Amino acid sequence: MKLIVPSILSADFARLGAEIRAVEAAGADWIHIDVMDGHFVPGITIGSPVVKALRPVTDLPLDVHLMIEKPENHIAAFAEAGADWISVQVETCIHLHRTLALIRSLGKKAGVALNPATPLTAVEWVLEAVDLVMLMSVNPGFGGQRFIPSTRDKLKRLRRMLADARSRALVAVDGGINADTIQAVAGAGADVFVAGSAVFGRPDYAEAIAVLRRRASETGPDRALSG
Ligand code: DX5
Ligand code: ZN
Repeated sequence: MKLIVPSILSADFARLGAEIRAVEAAGADWIHIDVMDGHFVPGITIGSPVVKALRPVTDLPLDVHLMIEKPENHIAAFAEAGADWISVQVETCIHLHRTLALIRSLGKKAGVALNPATPLTAVEWVLEAVDLVMLMSVNPGFGGQRFIPSTRDKLKRLRRMLADARSRALVAVDGGINADTIQAVAGAGADVFVAGSAVFGRPDYAEAIAVLRRRASETGPDRALSG
Protein backbone atom coordinates (compact mmCIF):
# COMPACT_ATOMS: atom_id res chain seq x y z
CA MET A 1 0.00 0.00 0.00
CA LYS A 2 1.31 3.44 -0.90
CA LEU A 3 -0.73 6.38 0.35
CA ILE A 4 0.14 9.99 -0.44
CA VAL A 5 -1.03 12.18 2.42
CA PRO A 6 -0.69 15.97 2.15
CA SER A 7 -0.03 17.83 5.40
CA ILE A 8 -2.04 21.02 5.63
CA LEU A 9 0.72 22.61 7.70
CA SER A 10 2.02 24.03 4.41
CA ALA A 11 -1.43 25.01 3.07
CA ASP A 12 -2.82 28.54 2.93
CA PHE A 13 -4.54 28.77 6.33
CA ALA A 14 -6.79 31.59 5.09
CA ARG A 15 -8.29 29.14 2.58
CA LEU A 16 -8.06 25.79 4.37
CA GLY A 17 -11.34 24.37 3.09
CA ALA A 18 -10.49 25.21 -0.52
CA GLU A 19 -6.99 23.84 -0.10
CA ILE A 20 -8.32 20.51 1.17
CA ARG A 21 -10.84 20.27 -1.67
CA ALA A 22 -8.02 21.00 -4.10
CA VAL A 23 -5.74 18.22 -2.85
CA GLU A 24 -8.67 15.80 -2.72
CA ALA A 25 -9.39 16.58 -6.38
CA ALA A 26 -5.67 16.23 -7.06
CA GLY A 27 -5.61 12.63 -5.83
CA ALA A 28 -4.64 12.77 -2.14
CA ASP A 29 -5.41 9.62 -0.14
CA TRP A 30 -5.79 11.16 3.33
CA ILE A 31 -5.46 14.62 4.86
CA HIS A 32 -2.78 15.05 7.55
CA ILE A 33 -3.48 17.62 10.27
CA ASP A 34 -0.58 18.72 12.46
CA VAL A 35 -1.68 19.73 15.95
CA MET A 36 0.97 21.63 17.93
CA ASP A 37 0.68 22.99 21.46
CA GLY A 38 3.66 25.31 21.97
CA HIS A 39 5.09 22.89 24.56
CA PHE A 40 6.04 19.60 22.93
CA VAL A 41 7.00 21.61 19.85
CA PRO A 42 7.54 25.37 19.71
CA GLY A 43 4.61 26.32 17.49
CA ILE A 44 0.86 26.35 18.07
CA THR A 45 -1.35 25.34 15.15
CA ILE A 46 -4.76 23.72 15.02
CA GLY A 47 -7.30 22.62 17.62
CA SER A 48 -10.32 20.33 17.49
CA PRO A 49 -12.77 23.13 16.44
CA VAL A 50 -10.81 23.50 13.20
CA VAL A 51 -10.92 19.74 12.61
CA LYS A 52 -14.67 19.85 13.19
CA ALA A 53 -15.04 22.69 10.70
CA LEU A 54 -12.99 20.81 8.10
CA ARG A 55 -14.77 17.47 8.55
CA PRO A 56 -17.65 18.23 6.14
CA VAL A 57 -15.28 19.62 3.53
CA THR A 58 -13.88 16.25 2.44
CA ASP A 59 -14.69 12.55 2.34
CA LEU A 60 -11.03 11.65 2.79
CA PRO A 61 -9.82 10.20 6.10
CA LEU A 62 -8.51 12.86 8.47
CA ASP A 63 -5.17 11.86 9.95
CA VAL A 64 -4.59 13.90 13.10
CA HIS A 65 -1.00 14.07 14.34
CA LEU A 66 -0.93 15.22 17.95
CA MET A 67 2.37 16.95 18.74
CA ILE A 68 1.08 17.93 22.18
CA GLU A 69 1.74 17.15 25.80
CA LYS A 70 -0.88 15.16 27.70
CA PRO A 71 -2.63 14.06 24.50
CA GLU A 72 -4.97 11.84 26.53
CA ASN A 73 -6.77 15.00 27.65
CA HIS A 74 -7.65 15.96 24.07
CA ILE A 75 -8.23 12.68 22.23
CA ALA A 76 -11.99 12.60 22.85
CA ALA A 77 -12.36 16.10 21.43
CA PHE A 78 -10.49 15.23 18.24
CA ALA A 79 -12.44 11.99 17.89
CA GLU A 80 -15.71 13.88 18.33
CA ALA A 81 -14.55 16.47 15.80
CA GLY A 82 -14.26 13.78 13.14
CA ALA A 83 -10.68 12.53 13.08
CA ASP A 84 -10.32 9.04 11.58
CA TRP A 85 -6.73 8.37 12.57
CA ILE A 86 -5.25 9.83 15.75
CA SER A 87 -1.51 9.59 16.35
CA VAL A 88 0.26 10.52 19.55
CA GLN A 89 3.97 11.14 20.00
CA VAL A 90 5.39 8.32 22.09
CA GLU A 91 7.57 10.82 23.96
CA THR A 92 4.45 12.44 25.43
CA CYS A 93 2.83 9.25 26.74
CA ILE A 94 3.69 7.82 30.13
CA HIS A 95 0.88 5.27 29.78
CA LEU A 96 1.13 4.67 26.05
CA HIS A 97 -0.86 1.43 25.98
CA ARG A 98 -3.74 3.10 27.82
CA THR A 99 -3.69 6.11 25.48
CA LEU A 100 -3.75 3.91 22.38
CA ALA A 101 -6.60 1.87 23.86
CA LEU A 102 -8.50 5.10 24.49
CA ILE A 103 -8.21 6.03 20.80
CA ARG A 104 -9.53 2.64 19.71
CA SER A 105 -12.30 2.72 22.29
CA LEU A 106 -13.61 5.84 20.55
CA GLY A 107 -13.79 3.92 17.26
CA LYS A 108 -10.69 5.53 15.77
CA LYS A 109 -7.48 4.12 14.37
CA ALA A 110 -4.61 4.45 16.82
CA GLY A 111 -1.23 5.71 15.68
CA VAL A 112 2.04 6.34 17.43
CA ALA A 113 4.76 8.67 16.16
CA LEU A 114 8.45 8.46 17.07
CA ASN A 115 10.94 11.31 16.95
CA PRO A 116 14.15 10.67 15.03
CA ALA A 117 16.09 10.07 18.26
CA THR A 118 13.50 7.75 19.82
CA PRO A 119 14.36 4.04 19.60
CA LEU A 120 11.92 1.56 18.10
CA THR A 121 11.87 -0.33 21.38
CA ALA A 122 9.60 2.44 22.70
CA VAL A 123 6.72 0.79 20.81
CA GLU A 124 7.86 -2.84 20.81
CA TRP A 125 5.45 -3.98 23.53
CA VAL A 126 2.37 -2.07 22.41
CA LEU A 127 2.18 -3.24 18.81
CA GLU A 128 -1.04 -5.15 19.43
CA ALA A 129 -2.66 -1.79 20.27
CA VAL A 130 -1.36 0.09 17.22
CA ASP A 131 -2.84 0.60 13.75
CA LEU A 132 -0.10 2.89 12.46
CA VAL A 133 3.52 3.58 13.40
CA MET A 134 4.81 6.90 12.13
CA LEU A 135 8.52 7.57 11.96
CA MET A 136 9.37 11.24 12.08
CA SER A 137 12.03 11.88 9.47
CA VAL A 138 12.59 15.43 10.75
CA ASN A 139 12.45 16.82 14.27
CA PRO A 140 8.79 17.77 14.55
CA GLY A 141 7.60 21.35 14.68
CA PHE A 142 8.08 22.81 11.24
CA GLY A 143 7.38 22.09 7.61
CA GLY A 144 10.02 22.28 4.93
CA GLN A 145 12.87 20.65 6.85
CA ARG A 146 15.46 18.33 5.39
CA PHE A 147 14.89 14.55 5.51
CA ILE A 148 17.10 12.75 8.06
CA PRO A 149 18.71 9.84 6.14
CA SER A 150 19.00 7.41 9.08
CA THR A 151 15.19 7.12 8.94
CA ARG A 152 15.66 4.68 6.11
CA ASP A 153 17.43 2.05 8.21
CA LYS A 154 14.99 2.70 11.04
CA LEU A 155 12.11 1.98 8.65
CA LYS A 156 13.66 -1.31 7.60
CA ARG A 157 14.10 -2.35 11.21
CA LEU A 158 10.54 -1.32 12.01
CA ARG A 159 9.29 -3.48 9.14
CA ARG A 160 11.13 -6.46 10.62
CA MET A 161 9.78 -5.72 14.08
CA LEU A 162 6.21 -5.59 12.76
CA ALA A 163 6.67 -8.80 10.78
CA ASP A 164 8.09 -10.60 13.84
CA ALA A 165 5.11 -9.43 15.90
CA ARG A 166 2.70 -10.36 13.08
CA SER A 167 1.44 -6.79 13.28
CA ARG A 168 -0.58 -5.39 10.40
CA ALA A 169 0.03 -1.79 11.44
CA LEU A 170 0.72 0.64 8.64
CA VAL A 171 4.11 2.31 8.49
CA ALA A 172 4.11 6.06 7.93
CA VAL A 173 6.93 8.51 7.40
CA ASP A 174 6.56 12.24 8.09
CA GLY A 175 8.98 15.05 7.30
CA GLY A 176 11.15 16.04 4.37
CA ILE A 177 9.35 13.73 1.95
CA ASN A 178 9.66 14.97 -1.63
CA ALA A 179 10.31 13.67 -5.12
CA ASP A 180 13.98 13.09 -4.29
CA THR A 181 13.54 11.28 -0.95
CA ILE A 182 10.32 9.30 -1.36
CA GLN A 183 11.74 6.47 -3.42
CA ALA A 184 14.22 5.42 -0.76
CA VAL A 185 11.65 5.41 2.04
CA ALA A 186 9.23 3.52 -0.15
CA GLY A 187 11.94 0.94 -0.80
CA ALA A 188 12.51 0.67 2.95
CA GLY A 189 8.88 -0.32 3.47
CA ALA A 190 6.79 2.77 4.23
CA ASP A 191 3.08 2.63 3.33
CA VAL A 192 1.99 6.18 4.16
CA PHE A 193 3.91 9.22 2.93
CA VAL A 194 3.10 12.52 4.62
CA ALA A 195 4.17 15.48 2.52
CA GLY A 196 3.55 19.14 3.29
CA SER A 197 5.76 21.46 1.31
CA ALA A 198 6.22 18.91 -1.52
CA VAL A 199 2.47 19.22 -2.24
CA PHE A 200 1.24 22.59 -1.01
CA GLY A 201 4.50 24.28 -1.96
CA ARG A 202 4.06 23.28 -5.61
CA PRO A 203 2.01 25.19 -8.17
CA ASP A 204 0.15 22.10 -9.47
CA TYR A 205 -1.10 19.79 -6.70
CA ALA A 206 -2.18 17.01 -9.09
CA GLU A 207 1.22 16.96 -10.71
CA ALA A 208 2.98 17.04 -7.32
CA ILE A 209 0.94 14.09 -5.99
CA ALA A 210 1.35 12.15 -9.24
CA VAL A 211 5.12 12.57 -9.12
CA LEU A 212 5.26 11.38 -5.50
CA ARG A 213 3.03 8.41 -6.26
CA ARG A 214 5.10 7.43 -9.27
CA ARG A 215 8.39 7.72 -7.42
CA ALA A 216 7.02 5.78 -4.45
CA SER A 217 6.12 2.86 -6.68
CA GLU A 218 9.38 2.81 -8.62
CA THR A 219 12.04 0.49 -7.41
CA GLY A 220 15.61 1.35 -8.07
CA PRO A 221 18.87 2.38 -6.54
CA ASP A 222 18.75 4.76 -3.61
CA ARG A 223 19.25 8.28 -4.74
CA ALA A 224 19.56 11.69 -3.19
CA LEU A 225 19.85 10.54 0.40
CA SER A 226 23.62 10.75 0.47
CA GLY A 227 23.79 14.41 -0.55
C1 DX5 B 1 6.40 18.27 11.12
C2 DX5 B 1 5.02 17.83 10.75
C3 DX5 B 1 4.91 17.40 9.35
C4 DX5 B 1 5.14 18.51 8.36
C5 DX5 B 1 5.86 17.94 7.20
O1 DX5 B 1 6.45 18.62 12.45
O2 DX5 B 1 4.60 16.76 11.58
O3 DX5 B 1 3.67 16.75 9.08
O4 DX5 B 1 3.96 19.11 7.90
O5 DX5 B 1 6.22 18.98 6.34
P1 DX5 B 1 7.24 18.73 5.15
O6 DX5 B 1 6.64 17.67 4.28
O7 DX5 B 1 7.31 20.07 4.48
O8 DX5 B 1 8.54 18.30 5.75
ZN1 ZN C 1 2.82 15.55 10.95
